[in-house]
Amino acid sequence: MSAVPVAPVTVIVPTFNERANVAELIERTATALAAFDAEILFVDDSSDGTADEIARVAASAPLPVRVIHREHNTGGLGGAVVLGLNEATHDVCVVMDGDLQHPPELIPAMLQRFARGDADVVAASRYIGGGDSAGLGTTMRLGVSKAATAITKAMFLRRLWRSTDPMTGFFLVNRARIDVGVLRPQGFKILLEILVRAGERHDLRIAEVPMEFGARQHGSSKASLRQGWTFLVHLARLRFGKMGLFALIGGIGAIANIGIMWALTHAGMDYVPAAVIGAAVTIIGNFVLQELFVFRAERHDASRLWVRFAASASFNSIEAALRIPVMAWMVESWHISSVLATAISLVVAFFARFLFHALVVYAPRRRKTSDAPAEPSVDTATMRVLRAIDTEAMRPGEL
Ligand code: GDD
Ligand code: MN
Repeated sequence: MSAVPVAPVTVIVPTFNERANVAELIERTATALAAFDAEILFVDDSSDGTADEIARVAASAPLPVRVIHREHNTGGLGGAVVLGLNEATHDVCVVMDGDLQHPPELIPAMLQRFARGDADVVAASRYIGGGDSAGLGTTMRLGVSKAATAITKAMFLRRLWRSTDPMTGFFLVNRARIDVGVLRPQGFKILLEILVRAGERHDLRIAEVPMEFGARQHGSSKASLRQGWTFLVHLARLRFGKMGLFALIGGIGAIANIGIMWALTHAGMDYVPAAVIGAAVTIIGNFVLQELFVFRAERHDASRLWVRFAASASFNSIEAALRIPVMAWMVESWHISSVLATAISLVVAFFARFLFHALVVYAPRRRKTSDAPAEPSVDTATMRVLRAIDTEAMRPGEL
């Protein structure tokens, strides 16, 4: 490779006690990128002298190596990457772990892929042809990783459509195409944060290259059960803004509904009229709460109060009317309790109800053209529906 084929690149490496790995990492990265215009930027939170070791090796390195050392580790891994993105000299940034589980030899392939010009993010995937996740270690950890990936993809259907490994920590991103200021990563899942949040204005185009996720050479992984919990909270915060509030209110309504039924059937009432009364009380209660908390901002642009109530109540009545015979059928043929049947049918009805309310009941009467989202060129009906669901569910809640 004589001519430099691609834009200059900053390789961002977050480090937390990786002293034994940095010399080899710098050497292998420098060799891999000998034909490219590149710098390495470490964002270090270590207490083991990693930063001093970096400075020592940097002095004789064939490419520029910088280190930002933070005395008080507050931002964690995600925060370190965001700092790196802000401080990088170049717009093309590659984020790579500092423990050599990510082979630096893959960076040229990522740059070549990026140079084709049709991607904003090039992720190194453990799950596409040629990829390998053996370095994850235990079957347990692999299972958790796969399950988390599946759940996450299902939750962000449209944005993660083309990503087989949204959790990978090894990726190239074109900083010019994202809004670094909106990133609020928690814990380890920085790529997920970028794909979901930084692609607000226009969808990020994702490409992938296969990678072999190697075994860690020195030191130990900072992933933990606590990281797992942080991940779940992060997911919930990313996804369940408005939908979470709606679910919370629906959940309170469901409990009230079940409670009312329990009380009435215990007082001797047949379960069918008890279910009708429980549903009616729940419908009115839910409407008041959702007006106050979930769709407060949308009320102003939506149709008038009585129209909203009529639409909401009709939907819920139709849903309840359908639900009760289905429930009765479940009770008769599955021989489960009426309370359990109610609970199951309420969960199934939840998603239909959220979509109907977000897209119909509280739809603006006319759309302001100024804030219409940019449409991609290929716009199938499926993509339109997915986008509508996505937009609604992503709105921040107001509690
Ligand atoms: N600056 C900084 N601050 N760096 C950190 C911190 C921190 O608080 N915590 C971890 N790091 C650095 C580590 O030093 C390492 O270079 C990199 O971040 C990844 O940390 P590991 O502890 O090696 O994580 P892992 O191997 O379990 O997880 C990797 O694989 C996951 C996929 O299973 C990471 O790449 C994850 O991002 C990825 O999701
Ligand atoms: Mn690691």
